[in-house]
Amino acid sequence: MTTATLTITRPDDWHLHLRDGELMASVLPHSARCFARAVIMPNLKPPVTTAAAARAYYDRILDALHPDLDFTPLMTLYLTDATTPAEIERARADGVVVAAKLYPAGATTNSDDGLTDLARARPVFEAMAACGMPLLVHGEVTDPAVDIFDREAVFLERHLRPLIDAVPGLKVVLEHVTTKQGVDFVLQGPSTLAATITAHHLLYNRGAMFKGGLNPHYYCLPVLKREEHRLALVAAATGGSPKFFLGTDSAPHARSAKECDCGCAGIFSAPVAIEMYATVFDEAGALHRLEGFAGHHGPMFYGLPFNRSTLTLVRETRPVPDVVAGGAAGELVPLGAGAPVLWSLEAPDHTLRYRG
Ligand code: NCD
Ligand code: ZN
Repeated sequence: MTTATLTITRPDDWHLHLRDGELMASVLPHSARCFARAVIMPNLKPPVTTAAAARAYYDRILDALHPDLDFTPLMTLYLTDATTPAEIERARADGVVVAAKLYPAGATTNSDDGLTDLARARPVFEAMAACGMPLLVHGEVTDPAVDIFDREAVFLERHLRPLIDAVPGLKVVLEHVTTKQGVDFVLQGPSTLAATITAHHLLYNRGAMFKGGLNPHYYCLPVLKREEHRLALVAAATGGSPKFFLGTDSAPHARSAKECDCGCAGIFSAPVAIEMYATVFDEAGALHRLEGFAGHHGPMFYGLPFNRSTLTLVRETRPVPDVVAGGAAGELVPLGAGAPVLWSLEAPDHTLRYRG
């Protein structure tokens, strides 16, 4: 039998969508109950494109945070064709922005203002390299001629390799890597190249979207892939390489926006994320490597200190709630709704009080 409890450095989430307003206030405690810090994605409407907007968003998050919860948002800038090197420098100087996000225009939710031509953004990437700011990449081509299941693999060769070659000092995170090609690309790349991995891409293959019917709550971008890719992700996450770290890509959408004619892409995993990662590591016989993946590799890459506090997980099966409150947005359906998850947070003093 495996370990019954596991205490690790308190983890961070290196890729999180918190949204804004009431929805943010509803989902924030689900992340803050266990993650000490999270990299906050900037794809709001309108997107967070300036240092001033990032600072204002940071303030709104802290205003919405319950005073008993200890959580630091790490902000990001959304790169557009109009982003200037001066804006990168302003963001760096302001102090709350840790990274900038490259969305290829049209690749995913709220990415219409993203970059249309990576070559034109070269001065921005050079400014980032000069100040050590990581570039977070949504690594999918938008070319409609490329099959949706191949969009990540094609992006690597068509766009990411030339970018890395052109700006060698730039730190790059291939966000939510989903394929064996992505894992190999990261492993073979320079030490300035890393990747985040979601819990859902570790736990599910593309069959989950179609099991017994069409399951919109398993639809996200990049889309779930074949089993061979899931296995490559599990090997990467549990293998101990510091190039891979935890990024949930928890992306809440109202139930009504998921269960409709044209449902939104995004999986809301925050209420169960660390529990699901623990389950994956347990099943892979690699619980001793969860701490590195969840609590050490991210700060090492970003050049930030490890968290000093700890988090204790217990091997105790609990059901995932069917729905979670989302404020004015209505109900949210969390990843794995209704099913049991093998690991839980230790009965906490203050953390679980704020669960949905
Ligand atoms: C994200 C969202 O909803 O903002 N959706 C998703 O499917 N992951 C955007 C993103 O990270 O691609
Ligand atoms: Zn995302």
